[in-house]
Amino acid sequence: MAVIEAIYLTKSFGGADAVPVLDGINLSIEAGEVFGYLGPNGAGKTTTIRVLLGLLRPTRGSVRLFGQEPGESDALRARMGVLMENSGLDDRMSAQQSLHFHARLYGVADPAAKIEYLLGFVGLADKRDAKIGTFSTGMKRKLGLARAIVHDPELLFLDEPSAGLDPEAQVMVRELLQELAESHRMTVFINSHHLDEVQRLCSRIAILHRGRIRANDRVEALRRGGAASRLEVRLRERAQAARAAELLDRPSETGDVRIDGATVVLTGDGFDAPEVAAKLVHAGLQIEEVVRPVKSLEDVYFEIVRDEEVQA
Ligand SMILES: Nc1ncnc2c1ncn2[C@@H]1O[C@H](COP(=O)(O)OP(=O)(O)O)[C@@H](O)[C@H]1O
Ligand SMILES: [Mg+2]
Repeated sequence: MAVIEAIYLTKSFGGADAVPVLDGINLSIEAGEVFGYLGPNGAGKTTTIRVLLGLLRPTRGSVRLFGQEPGESDALRARMGVLMENSGLDDRMSAQQSLHFHARLYGVADPAAKIEYLLGFVGLADKRDAKIGTFSTGMKRKLGLARAIVHDPELLFLDEPSAGLDPEAQVMVRELLQELAESHRMTVFINSHHLDEVQRLCSRIAILHRGRIRANDRVEALRRGGAASRLEVRLRERAQAARAAELLDRPSETGDVRIDGATVVLTGDGFDAPEVAAKLVHAGLQIEEVVRPVKSLEDVYFEIVRDEEVQA
């Protein structure tokens, strides 16, 4: 059973003819996945989390967490931790008081030991008695993260966890998340437009653009170009490229064979590098190299969202 499931989730604000913010989103996230939800500002990432948490009702479609409707029960709520961009921490409390308050809310057994451990984990042990009002944005984010996991949730929602942090704090938060994902085996849903962060943390990502999911795959698969993978054969001599292209062309199948100088570019499924090399060598052609180029996640992302302004 999927931990998070969205089936044709559609959400519009305003009247029936308003353009939907989310337009038929399908998601299925399994236990233990660290899922990155990418998209430019205004794409609908926060709205998606709010619907998943049961804070907003879908206009159409449905969502399930652990097979249940969100907001249905306290038992379900206890299985989730949440860190939204605006952490909602009370400035008048100390770090420790805030965690105690939250732990009590969730009925955590032996909260004192847990809280000491978490304050150490997020690097705030020496700030346990300082008022949150005196904290930097980075410290608040770390405390927010500690609070989100004080009750050992199975599922963690993070809305732009490194937004607004200086580079040093970003690295610290990312390392904390990495450690969490590895050691605590939580299912994590991360909203972000921080490509580097997502690439390091997430096993799978989806890219949201204009209300729809435009890509949803493992990072490596996205970087290889998904199903339409690409293989480049560089020949020693330019004069042999045409002959190579002719040998490799498969008119009955989908895909494309194109010549670019001394390189033959193959796109489509089923081009196997050793097979391609063997075929050409057998025909007496001389190959410099056969490579499967990978794009950066940034390239993949901007190919999808390039017609929309993106803020870093
Ligand atoms: N409560 C709301 N009422 C009206 N419009 C909203 C509301 N919440 C979000 N929106 C709009 O929905 C779109 C997506 O917002 P949001 O989910 O916050 O995007 P993201 O988190 O990806 O930056 C934006 O155009 C935003 O203005
Ligand atoms: Mg947002």
